[in-house]
Amino acid sequence: MPSATARKPQTLPNDLESYWIPFTPNRAFKKAPRLIARAKDMHYYTPEGRPVLDGTAGLWCVNAGHNRAPIVEAIQAQAAELDYPPAFQYSHPKAFELASRIADLAPGDLDHVFFCNSGSEAVDTALKIALAYHNGRGEAGRTRLIGRERGYHGVGFGGISVGGIVNNRKHFGSLLAGVDHLPHTYNREKQAFTKGEPEWGGHLADELERIVALHDASTIAAVIVEPMAGSTGVLPPPKGYLQRLRAICDKYGILLIFDEVITGFGRLGHAFAAERYGVIPDLMTFAKGITSGSVPMGGVVVRNGIYGAFMHGPEHVTELFHGYTYSAHPLACAAGLATLDLYREENLFERAKKMEPKFADAAMSLKGLPNVLDIRTVGLTCGIDIASKPDAVGKRGYDMMEKAFHEEGVMVRNMGDTLALTPPLIVSEAEIGEIFDKVAKVIKAVN
Ligand SMILES: Cc1ncc(COP(=O)(O)O)c(C=O)c1O
Repeated sequence: MPSATARKPQTLPNDLESYWIPFTPNRAFKKAPRLIARAKDMHYYTPEGRPVLDGTAGLWCVNAGHNRAPIVEAIQAQAAELDYPPAFQYSHPKAFELASRIADLAPGDLDHVFFCNSGSEAVDTALKIALAYHNGRGEAGRTRLIGRERGYHGVGFGGISVGGIVNNRKHFGSLLAGVDHLPHTYNREKQAFTKGEPEWGGHLADELERIVALHDASTIAAVIVEPMAGSTGVLPPPKGYLQRLRAICDKYGILLIFDEVITGFGRLGHAFAAERYGVIPDLMTFAKGITSGSVPMGGVVVRNGIYGAFMHGPEHVTELFHGYTYSAHPLACAAGLATLDLYREENLFERAKKMEPKFADAAMSLKGLPNVLDIRTVGLTCGIDIASKPDAVGKRGYDMMEKAFHEEGVMVRNMGDTLALTPPLIVSEAEIGEIFDKVAKVIKAVN
């Protein structure tokens, strides 16, 4: 180990070495950095002022478009008014206002909101609430958590345990005990080039019956799935799948958690995917779009019966021993309120729904290009599977993302060799055309 007192070699003030960039090949990035200095509406701008069309809403979060004046002004005003009150034992008015607004948007009796600061924290919070719920009701044996292969639920130990993306799990030890996984819902032979929810695959929800038969329902606390699996490459749920999961969970008293960190706030043309699919989960996580990416925030919405189950015992005693210093931070609450206003004033969720067919047609126009194996679309979201190089899996996807940024001026996301396009909900028809024209050029250029 180097000595702590050893002198570091002299570095330039703006040296790129110090920052360890998350989920990024650092050495490749630092050779040809993709730096963003500014953003407005549908565009990013590099430090040199070159515009880059945002095909990804940042990381699936900037649903209202970049640096929208009402959100910026709300954050500025809040910073000048109240920096921080303790999140435990005290609170501030905007926390209650935002919780009410979210409960209003959420379907059914999803009426209570627990705040945190990210999707990963939201997932850990939801899993802990599920465990504590059963524990408090005298079913302490219900400790198993069921996730799904290819699922992404953030990077906390809870999230990677129920998640099903192997690279996010295999380096990090034995993870949480007592976790099992449903099979993923993708089958290229049966589903390739489907717009929206595939016809094939609803029966895969019945695998939950097999898991119940193996472990017994009395040991299972909750099932967690993304209604649309995003980070694994955009897998819309097969028709009927979520409804069947709901029915099986009801049959066995298992809580159903929807991880709506990506699907919340308009991505699928509704406030939440739960509304699109007519399925009400017991707990629902959110993050990203709540502030349109402007200030970190996440949370969990829970049904009345779950919240109610905690509200017992002496009133001076804390009901749930969980929370974060920055739960419901004033800046995030102010940003969230302004964002929800903007979504409503500009009908952005309905707009996404109206644009969905045009977006899907534009995406499918790439069918037949070299190396394109499958294209999937749902809401304003699309995944494009590119054939992997046999000797370098992920290289084509990476090269395409890089070329798109440096040469075509469009931001795309690559998850290995799958490209994802998920623009802000303010995207125009012309911009949809521009995104896919540029992506087509990139796909043709990279071999
Ligand atoms: C479904 C889902 N859950 C959780 C997360 C984690 O969110 P965060 O990166 O804010 O921790 C993500 C992030 O993409 C996500 O897509």
